Amino acid sequence: MKVISIVGARPQLVKLAPVAAAFAQTDHQHVIVHTGQHYDADLSDVFFSGLGIPDPDVHLGVGSGSHGVQTGSVLSALDPVLEAEQPDWVLVYGDTNSTIAGALSAVKQHLPVAHLEAGLRSFNRRMPEEHNRVLTDHCADLLLAPTEEAMRHLANEGLARRAELAGDVMVDICLRIRDAVLAGEHPAPLLPEGIDPAKPFLLATLHRPDNTDDPARLAAVVGALAALPMPVALLAHPRLTARAEQHGIDLAQGSIHVGRPLPYAGLVTAVLASSGVVTDSGGLQKEAYLLDRVCTTIRPETEWIETLEGGWNHLVPDPHDMARDEWAALVTRRAPEAPHGAPYGDGTAAQRVVKLMEQRAPQHQS
Ligand code: UD1
Repeated sequence: MKVISIVGARPQLVKLAPVAAAFAQTDHQHVIVHTGQHYDADLSDVFFSGLGIPDPDVHLGVGSGSHGVQTGSVLSALDPVLEAEQPDWVLVYGDTNSTIAGALSAVKQHLPVAHLEAGLRSFNRRMPEEHNRVLTDHCADLLLAPTEEAMRHLANEGLARRAELAGDVMVDICLRIRDAVLAGEHPAPLLPEGIDPAKPFLLATLHRPDNTDDPARLAAVVGALAALPMPVALLAHPRLTARAEQHGIDLAQGSIHVGRPLPYAGLVTAVLASSGVVTDSGGLQKEAYLLDRVCTTIRPETEWIETLEGGWNHLVPDPHDMARDEWAALVTRRAPEAPHGAPYGDGTAAQRVVKLMEQRAPQHQS
């Protein structure tokens, strides 16, 4: 079996790591295509080197652009690659512009598409990720769902026959790296200046367009972080840095200490050292949960609803709707005493992904 993985943005590289490792245990041919959606070393190269992912076989180098330009550039650059490779499966990951472009290029060439992390829904049509994941699910042949909830969404949309519960490959990588960090196999991460990992601090990230692109909204969210009664290590995504500069908003105010995005092992180490996480990232909500840290999510909804159970994750649509004390108490709350369950699987999802792709490969279909 020949499988082409199409990746381009940071969270896809994290998911690719366990999948590439699982394919390496088989005789299957696994080809990696990097679209170039993320190109800064912080967002791309360090994930290949840090997670032991083989170098991409093909790099499309599309870079940044508006949604249409970026998606269209990946689509047109991919067409000849897929045509030449003629894989048994095109595997796309998550919900970025690289995901929908990969799925479209494949489906239009009658190549079978598998979608990893299928069935997630925010039901928020303002999110570019929501368009990408819904459209990808509806054109893919195999829907690899991470959770029971995702399976239910797919069934509700008439897609049950194409769906399989695979579990979440992010558990595979997160737990593997956690164990390596706890065994002392990774050096201490480069935390923002002024953050002492031996003292309580909060870890924060912010990159969703709904939080970064409107100057008033961004100023309000940054102000809420700045007012927290504990140092905040803000790992600034380039989108956040660019928008803050553009709107004249100083990120390094009050409690905030600004740093660069961390490689994966550095992020896991930082979450483990932190008292809690404040974010709008889907991946980090789940990493906090898997690493038993409380998370406060600055969004009106989450695709990862399982993290909300027991109070591990808490949604805050707008920090300014809360009294300052209430906001501070929420973000600095202690972890629940009762342990949480394992709704995202047992850390063997990537092997299941490979098995499901073998079983559902077109020549095996009745
Ligand atoms: C993308 C995904 C989002 C994912 C996120 C993870 C889409 C629509 N969004 O958002 O789902 O959660 O990746 O990080 O696909 N930039 C750089 N260097 C880079 C990449 C981007 O400076 O290597 C800057 C550019 O100013 C660019 C902006 O960040 O315009 C946004 O990048 P883009 O890839 O369009 O979206 P993300 O916000 O990263």
